[in-house]
Amino acid sequence: MRRATTVVAVLAALAATSLAHAQDAATGKTKAAACTVCHGPLGIAVAPETPNLAGQPASYLAEQLKAYRDGTRKHEIMSLMAKPLTDADVANLAAWFSSVKVEAAAPK
Ligand code: HEC
Repeated sequence: MRRATTVVAVLAALAATSLAHAQDAATGKTKAAACTVCHGPLGIAVAPETPNLAGQPASYLAEQLKAYRDGTRKHEIMSLMAKPLTDADVANLAAWFSSVKVEAAAPK
């Protein structure tokens, strides 16, 4: 009986963890309000020297944000921006910018 209770508790904890880590573009969009002044509301940059984020692979975006956060990649602004982000924030932001559809056209 006690063992069964433990198993249920562990399963509940695992479920909660995976929910917290689920990538949520809608939550990321809200969080991205802090990014729009430079990266634009849809991740098409509006500030000079700033890369577009729209349509980039979520795995790439998440990797870069974690690299800024842990100091592997350094940039005056982005290191500061990434520092307070949780893993869930990173996943949600990456999911949001990645979900923006980008079309490319060959130059005329
Ligand atoms: C004040 C301007 C500014 C703000 C605000 C800002 N960024 Fe940036 N971001 C930059 C600049 C400039 C770079 C290029 C940095 C470099 O050269 O490494 C950059 C780079 C990045 C990159 C790497 C892109 C690539 O192609 O490698 C990601 C991802 C990113 N920003 C995400 C965010 C997110 C998410 C936010 C909001 C939480 C944010 N940024 C807020 C200016 C900003």
